[in-house]
Amino acid sequence: MSEVFTRRVSLAITGASGVQYALRLIECLVAADCQVLLMISKAAQVVVATETSIGLPGAAEQQEIFLSNKFQARPGQIKVFGREQWMAPVASGSGAPSSMVICPCSTGTLSAIACGASNNLIERAADVALKERRQLILVPREAPFSEIHLENMLKLSRMGAVILPACPGFYHQPTTIDDLIDFVVARILSQLGLEQVLLPRWGEKYI
Ligand SMILES: Cc1cc2nc3c(=O)[nH]c(=O)nc-3n(C[C@H](O)[C@H](O)[C@H](O)COP(=O)(O)O)c2cc1C
Repeated sequence: MSEVFTRRVSLAITGASGVQYALRLIECLVAADCQVLLMISKAAQVVVATETSIGLPGAAEQQEIFLSNKFQARPGQIKVFGREQWMAPVASGSGAPSSMVICPCSTGTLSAIACGASNNLIERAADVALKERRQLILVPREAPFSEIHLENMLKLSRMGAVILPACPGFYHQPTTIDDLIDFVVARILSQLGLEQVLLPRWGEKYI
C-alpha cells in the first residue's frame, strides 16, 4: 500500500550557491509530513561537494536512500528522480504536485525555464508547472544580476512564478549561519502555505 502524506511538493536543487537552503527546506518539508519529489542537477552535486561535507552519492537511487536516512523520512517520503527520468510524476500535468520549488535556482536553469527548453527533468517539471498554472517558486542566487537574469526573472514573474531570492534579512538579529538559512526557508514555507515556526511573523516580535 502506498504511503499517504499531507501534501506533495516538487523540489529541484540546481547549481547555484546555497545548497544549505535546500537541505533545510527538505528537513522542514519532511517534518511537515510532505512528500518531497526531488531532483538534483549535476552542477548542484558539485556545489554540495564544495559547500558541505555530507558526501551525497551521485545516483538518484542512492541519493534517495541517503537523504531519507539523513532526514529520517517515512518510507516513500523522499523520492529522487534523475535528469532524464521522463516517466516521473513531475514530468506531466496529470502527475505533478500543485507546487514546485527550485532552490537554489541557477541563472542557467532560470534561463532554460524562461525559454521553455525542457531539456532535463527539472526544466520539464518547471515547464509543466507553468503550463498548468501551478505554483512555481524560484530561489535564484547570483550577484550582481545581469540584464539577462533580470529579464528572465521578470518574464517568469509575469507568468505567475514567484521570484524569491536567496536574500536573507537581518531584522531577526541572526547570530548563526543557520539563522540566515532559516530566514529564507521560512519565506519559502510561507509561500507554500505551510505553517512555519522558524521565525516570528512580522508584527509579532520586531516592534
Ligand atoms: C561551487 C559553485 C557555485 C556556483 N554558484 C552559482 C551561483 O551562485 N549562481 C549561479 O547561477 N550559478 C552558479 N554556479 C554555476 C552553475 O552551477 C552552472 O551555471 C551550471 O551550469 C548550472 O547548471 P544547473 O542549472 O543544471 O544546475 C556555481 C557553480 C559552482 C561549481
